[in-house]
Amino acid sequence: MINPTVKLVQVTDCHLQNDPSQLYRHQDVETQLDQLLTHLNSTLPEETLLLLTGDIVHHGGADAYRRLTVKLESVPFDTAWIPGNHDDTALMQACGERLNRRVIQARDWCLILLNSTSEPDGRGSGALGQTELAFLRQTLDEYSHKHCLIVLHHNPVSVESGWQDPIMLADADQFWELLKDYRQVRGIICGHVHQEWRWQYQGVDVMSCPASSVQFKKRCDEMTLEDMPALQAPAYRLLELSERGEIISQVKRFNLADDQNISSV
Ligand SMILES: [Fe+2]
Repeated sequence: MINPTVKLVQVTDCHLQNDPSQLYRHQDVETQLDQLLTHLNSTLPEETLLLLTGDIVHHGGADAYRRLTVKLESVPFDTAWIPGNHDDTALMQACGERLNRRVIQARDWCLILLNSTSEPDGRGSGALGQTELAFLRQTLDEYSHKHCLIVLHHNPVSVESGWQDPIMLADADQFWELLKDYRQVRGIICGHVHQEWRWQYQGVDVMSCPASSVQFKKRCDEMTLEDMPALQAPAYRLLELSERGEIISQVKRFNLADDQNISSV
């Protein structure tokens, strides 16, 4: 019998350096991503869709994007990516080809991939802007018969953090106002915060995913790296989208030392 669910895996905030030997906040994020992709390849079914949700490359280096596209050839998953505030959108569009899809139809679902890097404030903030909001409205009109999952980098909900809330999605109010007209939106996934969250907001299941690179401690006034060992590991989010519009999801944390999942939350 064919399984009617749509299987997704979200990997986010890889922060690859243009020089792969360069560390990011003291971590070898290149090796972490390699090991994570190998792990996903050995544990997830081939029909899984891999979503890379921004801050893929730390300073938008061309070499890093090219290396990543080669890495992705070694996994069987159909893959798509969106930019974060640290990415170079033009480079991604130039070298990503099929990775740059904006709308993906999968069974009873429509995935809408948004670019939230408009109007940057230089500190990490980003917005959808009028063009992207118009694209969202047009796409939701077109796919009114589908369950919809929205994919974007910046969190549209507060994480109660003095340094992170000023750099959340800048036009979140307009985004949520628009969504009031569309009851078919079941879920929203984002990156950016390097933390796990799950909210019900305006009746929508909103989820953030910890990073594949480093994690940030919750509820801090200044940027603070996570110091709890159980929460420091590189992580990813699994999602299953049912034909009835339900979302089953969990975050997995990946222990690089022994190639095991050490916890799921
Ligand atoms: Fe990030």
